[in-house]
Amino acid sequence: MRFRPRTPLALASALALATLTPTVATAAPPSEGAQGQEPSVTRSEGLAPTPPMGWNSWNNFGCEVSAKLVRQTAEAMVSSGMKAAGYDYVNIDDCWMAERRGPGGRLVPDPDKFPNGMKTLADHVHSLGLEIGIYATAGTETCAGYPGSLGHERIDARTFAEWGIDYLKYDNCNNRGIPAEERYRAMAEAIETTGEPIVLSICEWGQNAPWKGWGREVGGQLWRTTGDIRDTWTSWTGILDEQVGLTKYSGPNGWNDPDMLEVGNGNMSTAEYRAHFAMWALLNAPLIAGNDLRDMDEPTRRILTDEDLIAVNQDWAGVQGRKIRDDGDQEVWAKPMSDGSVAVALFNRARTNTTISVPAERLGLPPASHYRLRDLWHDTESTSTGTVRGAVGAHSAVVLRVWPRQGERLAPAHSLNLRAPEHVESGEPFTVTTTLHNDGRRPLHEVRLRLRVPVGYTVESGNSAHNRLVRGGGSWQREWTLRPTGTRHAPDSRTLEVAADANSRTGDDTHTATAEQEVTLVSAPASGGIEVSSMPLLSAENGMGPVERDRANGYGERGDGATMSIAGTEYATGLGVHADSVVRLYLGGECERFSAQVGVDDQYDGEGSVEFTVRGDGRTLAETGHREGGQPAVPIDVGVTDTTVLQLRVSDAGDGDYGDAADWAKAQLRC
Ligand code: GLA
Repeated sequence: MRFRPRTPLALASALALATLTPTVATAAPPSEGAQGQEPSVTRSEGLAPTPPMGWNSWNNFGCEVSAKLVRQTAEAMVSSGMKAAGYDYVNIDDCWMAERRGPGGRLVPDPDKFPNGMKTLADHVHSLGLEIGIYATAGTETCAGYPGSLGHERIDARTFAEWGIDYLKYDNCNNRGIPAEERYRAMAEAIETTGEPIVLSICEWGQNAPWKGWGREVGGQLWRTTGDIRDTWTSWTGILDEQVGLTKYSGPNGWNDPDMLEVGNGNMSTAEYRAHFAMWALLNAPLIAGNDLRDMDEPTRRILTDEDLIAVNQDWAGVQGRKIRDDGDQEVWAKPMSDGSVAVALFNRARTNTTISVPAERLGLPPASHYRLRDLWHDTESTSTGTVRGAVGAHSAVVLRVWPRQGERLAPAHSLNLRAPEHVESGEPFTVTTTLHNDGRRPLHEVRLRLRVPVGYTVESGNSAHNRLVRGGGSWQREWTLRPTGTRHAPDSRTLEVAADANSRTGDDTHTATAEQEVTLVSAPASGGIEVSSMPLLSAENGMGPVERDRANGYGERGDGATMSIAGTEYATGLGVHADSVVRLYLGGECERFSAQVGVDDQYDGEGSVEFTVRGDGRTLAETGHREGGQPAVPIDVGVTDTTVLQLRVSDAGDGDYGDAADWAKAQLRC
């Protein structure tokens, strides 16, 4: 638990408490005495010896901030178990200020949103054993247009200190082109002058490479490495890609910040949120939750409070994980831990299941006769002779922690993978393959597989199988023939889950492994001319909320759901999207041409720049290049003969997604 330190001495002991992570598996610094004793941490160890953990209002609430929200969130942080898991900052983002500075040039909170002022609120948050953070901008105005702190650093830092603020997120909008280093240094020095231990979170979107030295040097404890995250798979995986090569710049009291978490905000699956959280844990990212803590479902709460994942993130050595293998859709990331183990993420970006394996030595572990493997999401442990393997679901990460020379008596490491096609056609048989690997030394006995399929599918090959023995180092593969028999509900596609159980006996123990995958039932479009907006979408990713049918997307001037409009011309049909967006359509080889009028929607009054790409089965069929807001629509008209899956992509053209509402207007197929 942390309390708010008021003096350097109190600070030292607060930090000592702060570094005691409430986790099972993190080794303590070498200086730590017997178990249960506090590690000795001095002030010189800084304000963020491990990545900060907390909550921030922006990702879920945007400008809807208030004292009530902050109070309720702080209380929820305690009652949900988040505080016990290590979260302690409750951070208010943009839009907390009144539109003008008050007497003495001081920032004042919006009296409607914060009727009792900030000090009272900060006191309440502190009384719960938590800390409070606030937001300001190193520019003339905040990104939402409230008073900026450029040129007001002294008075603003003093105001924050007087309120009892513990953490400042310092943003970058309206910065007048003044060098970032200069602007952030001014605030860091102003904070220093207050004598208060306020964490400085540098939020200049990675534009001036703060990790290369100046971020730490001016006095920041963390710095953003990219533009803003969104609650989409494309967004966070894109940010993940930008972390490659930054590993060496992060460490105690100076952390790379790939932006706040989106876990629990509703636009991704539980598997996707787990993968997002796991990768942020391995990156030593500050774990700043961005969801509504007052109203969390249990899967979200479990992800955010997972002890093993938090232990990986909060390891005192603070060595950031890095990508050690990239096979396209399959990646291996590894993070060395202070106790000599390695945390490893087997990450699958594909839409179908896969198996990823890596030799322990490739993870930087010493050669050993055996290794202890802990599956961090499932809390199961096993022993391997050297292969670290995981059956990884679609859009998922298996996260393991691997110790050399430990766990010999545990169950043999085994993984069960189920491979199935992403989509199947009604009435057409298809093959599902199950593979069981035994990476231990001892055999698995009496292995039974059972395939469970939902109503509407039959297993033509019988739905169970038995194998007396799968020896150590061996594997067992089995193919199953399935047929979707259900009537199709055009135009909606349907989804099935397939599960298989493997039971094995080692000594007195029985172990079970399960694998499942969603399979989408599709049907080829009927012949004739078809409006794309009337078709089922095989998959849809979108930068902001759902893809709109026959309407514009985005929250600009004209509002989400407005009529699509490109350079003043309105369109009644098509798809309204927001970068980054990927929409996939099942054509089943039955269509001849795709056509559309595409451009940036007038939502943001001439802002925005995107690129449109049309792909057929992975092959590029059309590209528009850079399209700006206000430019007239460009026509796309391409042949799609023999195409099974058509992909419509809108990217942000490499300059962030602000204003990037885009239209596939008059999108039509001829089939
Ligand atoms: C910028 C930041 C975001 C958020 C908003 C608030 O975009 O990068 O994290 O603080 O401003 O306006």
